[in-house]
Amino acid sequence: MGRVGLIMAVCLAKHGYEVTGIDPNTTLLEKLSHAQAPFYEPNLAEYLNAAMQSEKFVSTVDYAKNSQSDLTYIAVGTPSRADRSIDLGYVEEASRMIGRSLRDARQNQLVVMKSTVLPGTARNVVKPILENESGKTAGKGFSLCSNPEFLREGNAIHDAEFPDRIVIGSDDPSALDRLENVYRSFHGKSVPRIIKTSFENAELTKYANNAFLATKVSFINSIASIAERTAHADVKVIAESIGLDERIGPKFLNAGLGWGGSCFPKDLAALVSFSQSIGNDPELIRAVIATNRRQGEKAAELAKEALGELRGRQIAILGLSFKPETDDLRDAVSISIINKLLENGADLRVWDPRAMREAKHIFGDQIKYSANALNCIDQADCCILVTEWPEFKTIKPETFAKRMREPIVIDGRRIYDSREFQNAGIQFRAIGLGLWYEREQTGR
Ligand code: UGA
Repeated sequence: MGRVGLIMAVCLAKHGYEVTGIDPNTTLLEKLSHAQAPFYEPNLAEYLNAAMQSEKFVSTVDYAKNSQSDLTYIAVGTPSRADRSIDLGYVEEASRMIGRSLRDARQNQLVVMKSTVLPGTARNVVKPILENESGKTAGKGFSLCSNPEFLREGNAIHDAEFPDRIVIGSDDPSALDRLENVYRSFHGKSVPRIIKTSFENAELTKYANNAFLATKVSFINSIASIAERTAHADVKVIAESIGLDERIGPKFLNAGLGWGGSCFPKDLAALVSFSQSIGNDPELIRAVIATNRRQGEKAAELAKEALGELRGRQIAILGLSFKPETDDLRDAVSISIINKLLENGADLRVWDPRAMREAKHIFGDQIKYSANALNCIDQADCCILVTEWPEFKTIKPETFAKRMREPIVIDGRRIYDSREFQNAGIQFRAIGLGLWYEREQTGR
């Protein structure tokens, strides 16, 4: 019942399916039983409420309930191990428990692997465990498909209801047809293209998708670094211009402090580790990761350049979550930025519309937690915008100028108009903006 499973559960319930959510976390189940969303995601609270009201959704720790299902999704986490390779512990455990529940199942249940797993996992890990535990044979006693998920946090419900495409993998043609029919009935007229393929193609597609998106962001961030050292250059204009080339497209070209979250960092690392294990050095993917690491370091560097010494300076951080519209701090760039600034002796105050509770958990009393964005910038020597929450876009340059002790603003996500900020007397620096460099070089 995590960020994929619960979203699917409430969407399926909304479409009239009877859904049982299984999770070993009793605290989470307690929340669900009171229709409380365990994490923030737009519209989740409403969907969850509706699912509970309609009595189409129940949650339990009891895997035995699974024997009654026609269709079972495995949507457990696949975290990274210390060496960044993929940890399949939860997948194996879920497969074992599902396999056991299948012993008593009278129907041919369709088991669907949603969790992000490396090529070969459904065939070589999930299938044998299900067969051993159930005493049944895949394709006869039960069916198995891979079906990677492409939903984005912050847009998860929309993405679940209106996916760009659906990819289903299996070595069993009837399993592919069965899952295709489920989606045809779920999406009705808005059903997207459905690609039916091998387990391995479906599994690798998921990694390729995330790796390509991360590559696009790291690419534009590389151009941003060049623009920063080029007088009169601005990566925003360049991104807009290349985005109009239909072969490139405008999305995922927002330069900034880099990508984070629970997916890109983990999935790219797992892809590198997998690729190396089969004798192929994925040079490009390694460069994409290295570029991203470098990108996050720029926040502290820009602050240092603007302030000189960071020790004892009051720095305001606006935005902590790895992207807007989520409370998720997993692999958020804000964490490495805060750690770097703390190492340099800066005094930090932070504000995020959703991620404050999690931030307190991580940083304790090492930093100050503001009550709102304006309170955060009050009397600050420097403000670093880390996550582009919509509410930050409405803060006027004059407000920064009036409230801050030294009006130095570092726009880590390119949401502000540099000219307006400079005109308001603010020392404005931004990812991919060459102006500051020109000014420093020429002394103007
Ligand atoms: C990503 C994929 O977009 C989903 O398709 C996929 O299902 C999901 O991973 C997953 O594997 O579960 P998500 O991690 O929710 O979704 O977030 P994205 O919207 O992809 O953003 C990832 C990171 O890239 C964020 O830190 C964001 O700030 C950054 N980003 C994105 C940029 O810096 N610039 C951009 O132009 C776009």
